[in-house]
Amino acid sequence: MLWIKSFHIIFMVAWFAGLFYLPRLFVYHAMAEDRVSIERFKIMERKLFFGIMTPCMLITLALGTWLWLGYGFSGGWLHAKLALVVVLIAQHFYLGKLMVDFKHDRNKHGHVFYRWLNEIPTLPVLVAIIVLVVVKPF
Ligand code: HEM
Repeated sequence: MLWIKSFHIIFMVAWFAGLFYLPRLFVYHAMAEDRVSIERFKIMERKLFFGIMTPCMLITLALGTWLWLGYGFSGGWLHAKLALVVVLIAQHFYLGKLMVDFKHDRNKHGHVFYRWLNEIPTLPVLVAIIVLVVVKPF
């Protein structure tokens, strides 16, 4: 079980790296004016979303489900954690939708919006999930 939990945490960290970095790329993409930079950001965003974030999300969820169902974990902490994981998955696909908007040059938001998006949804959810799974307060 400890090997499964180790890789659960490793892929979770990689997924979070993308959840924090992709909005940061959107900040600079929204500020870019020259075509060369704009096309470069499109490539970076696509590789990050499909090459790192999505596979790491799927592996984190698969290993978490293995821990949950394979080792009989239960409790209010796990239900609350799963509810927050749904928020993270929604954030992941919202970032994917924004990436497609940028790909087709139809982004509607300015860089300030993405600076907020960079921190606000992800950080509180990360803190809450870690406290729930380590402290198990209920
Ligand atoms: C379908 C989604 C997930 C399920 C079913 C799940 C389930 C679990 C289970 C059953 C454990 C073992 C708890 C223990 O050993 O006490 C665990 C450990 C852990 N999970 Fe998840 N998890 C999921 C997603 C996530 C996500 C998105 C994060 C990101 C913050 C995360 C972070 C952790 C951490 C840090 C541990 C290690 C806790 C410890 O060793 O005390 N999990 N997970």
